Amino acid sequence: MVDTKTITVTVNNEEYTSTVNVRKNLIDYLREDLGLTGSHVGCEHGVCGACTLDMNGQTVRSCLILAVQADGMEITTIEGLPSEGIAEELKKSFAKNNALQCGYCTPGMLSSALEYLNNGGRANKEEIRRHISGNYCRCTGYQAIVEAIYDVAENGVSK
Ligand code: FES
Ligand code: FES
Repeated sequence: MVDTKTITVTVNNEEYTSTVNVRKNLIDYLREDLGLTGSHVGCEHGVCGACTLDMNGQTVRSCLILAVQADGMEITTIEGLPSEGIAEELKKSFAKNNALQCGYCTPGMLSSALEYLNNGGRANKEEIRRHISGNYCRCTGYQAIVEAIYDVAENGVSK
């Protein structure tokens, strides 16, 4: 018998009520049940950062969280990042600095970068590197990603 539970989760400002297998993890729930495939699955054990997203104001590894643990929580995925402010500036800076190639790491990377900047992260490349050290990128060599975050930390939101 499969154990299920009904949960209500707010994702990108929309409320969803679903009955889920209690063993299903959050990333699979978002991708398979809600069709939000922007967050990616890499290692499935909390190492690569591809599944990073925001839950109640903190970045989390959504492969390490069960969907039932997200009951009552507010989640923001790449699909729900605002088209204004720091989030938009970061997206533009990633494009301008060529900070993505295949883009597989990008949703998680943006989530971590946003957390850094929203918590007063400074224009300091060493600190930026440390903050994104839990997000793997197999393409860029990281330099362009660090530059992209650095530019936003230094210049803020353009008028
Ligand atoms: S898929 Fe979650 S950390 Fe790699
Ligand atoms: S852009 Fe391909 S893994 Fe980062």
